[in-house]
Amino acid sequence: MEKIIIIDFGGQYCHLISRRIRELGVFTEIIPFDADLNKLIELKPKAIILSGGPNSIYDDGSPKLKNTVLKYMLENNIPMLGICYGHHLIIHQLGGIIEPHDYKEYGKTYLEVIENRTLLSSLNREEIVWMSHGDQVRELPEGFKTLAKTKNCPIAAYGNENRKLYGVQFHPEVGHTPKGKIILENFINIAGCSRDWKLENWIEKALEKIKKQVGSENKVILGLSGGVDSSVTAMLIHKAIGNRLHSIFVNNGLLRKNEEIEVQETFRDQLGFANFHYADAEELFLERLKNVENPEEKRKIIGHTFIKVFENKTVELEREYPNIKYLAQGTIYPDRVETATTSKSAAKIKSHHNLTLPEDMKLEIIEPLKDLYKDEVRRIGIKLGLPKDLIYRHPFPGPGLAVRIVGVIDKERLDILREADTILIEEIKKAGIYESLWQAFCVFLPLKTVGIMGDFRTYEYICSIRIVESLDAMTANFAKLDWDLLEKIGTRIVNEVKGINRVVYDISNKPPSTIEYE
Ligand code: XMP
Repeated sequence: MEKIIIIDFGGQYCHLISRRIRELGVFTEIIPFDADLNKLIELKPKAIILSGGPNSIYDDGSPKLKNTVLKYMLENNIPMLGICYGHHLIIHQLGGIIEPHDYKEYGKTYLEVIENRTLLSSLNREEIVWMSHGDQVRELPEGFKTLAKTKNCPIAAYGNENRKLYGVQFHPEVGHTPKGKIILENFINIAGCSRDWKLENWIEKALEKIKKQVGSENKVILGLSGGVDSSVTAMLIHKAIGNRLHSIFVNNGLLRKNEEIEVQETFRDQLGFANFHYADAEELFLERLKNVENPEEKRKIIGHTFIKVFENKTVELEREYPNIKYLAQGTIYPDRVETATTSKSAAKIKSHHNLTLPEDMKLEIIEPLKDLYKDEVRRIGIKLGLPKDLIYRHPFPGPGLAVRIVGVIDKERLDILREADTILIEEIKKAGIYESLWQAFCVFLPLKTVGIMGDFRTYEYICSIRIVESLDAMTANFAKLDWDLLEKIGTRIVNEVKGINRVVYDISNKPPSTIEYE
């Protein structure tokens, strides 16, 4: 399969470039700017994209392409497209001039297309593009031509047709550049990539690979949470090796209402997973979380307890079913390939709890989804026959409702939150907006305020409603819902949920707030 390699210079849109190219049918991989030449050669790139980045070429220690890498690409005539910082870098490293600028040009800009052929083929004379830059190209090296300009940027796109080197100052990968997809498609055509990245082919190959790896006797174990990634992993492996897949579902007592019943029904009853094992650990989790207030401590306790429960269940199953040799995990591409931006920020704010297990379990790992993006995983899930409701369910954090109850957790608070959350989701679905939202959920605030119901004074807790729109959870905006809908949800929660007498709507964006409360 032919690949386009994206070299990451720290731009926030690296994964977005990669997803766009895959949507166009070409497989991609992201590598860091300082990757070795050997790594690049091993990947056999059909073309290269140099991403944007926050630096100026003139910053001390700003990332550059290794000379060996650049030389290899030029000698082998590998087509290259530079975006934003990448656009400067090609010119800078080939002897042109970049002009530093104190001010930044940011946002919607009109592009004047000078040559609507090659990279800019099929574009009109004027197009809208999304700009975000300080520096700009002032002088092109020999062999390069200006393809487009803007009011403030005389070389907004360039090309060297002989060597197939191109650059754009703006971001073709973002939705704000309406013709961006055409530009990327033009580049794919210039590079002569065959567009053979198809999910149908992927499924067939993945099944073969799993069968071959596991063999005809061995068994695979998997932590199945009912989330998209673990569910699709389970379906795929089940399809490959049938009931030699043993899935373990852990009820940590922090799940949404009826979730433990629904997941069992889906997999055991509807999809015929004969070896679906249910580990009820509600009591253990709640006991260990008793009186714990600190968010990080909660997360750690939940992570450790999960591993313990999973390990115990595995040992129990190993006794009953010999030859459990593999542990499957639902790791997906963005979990594995941190771009320079993601590695700097998010991870340290909250210690994420996912289904990672200690190495001393001596099981070999299978990660069939490790090269895929979430939207690809979802499409595969649908093709494999998973229910649409499960595939398009909003993300739910590993530590579950524990991070949606501020402070101490107990069964009573969990039950209150479950009831409120069920009403919220019911109304959001009824209004037909569930799928357009990234997440919608209730949060329990351990604060009591005074209210009145009938002729009686009440003194009860507050429920906060958190509804956000987002593309990838890195940033998020609160959803500007219709007042009538919010009123209906608030009224139902106060009337129907014992323990809540006040509902507030969270109007914070991320950043500076996070999506979850803890
Ligand atoms: P924050 O709260 O950091 O959340 O803005 C970003 C996204 O991640 C989800 N989230 C988690 N997912 N394990 C997960 O698998 C976790 O520990 C975890 N904590 C937060 C959150 O729901 C949101 O979509």
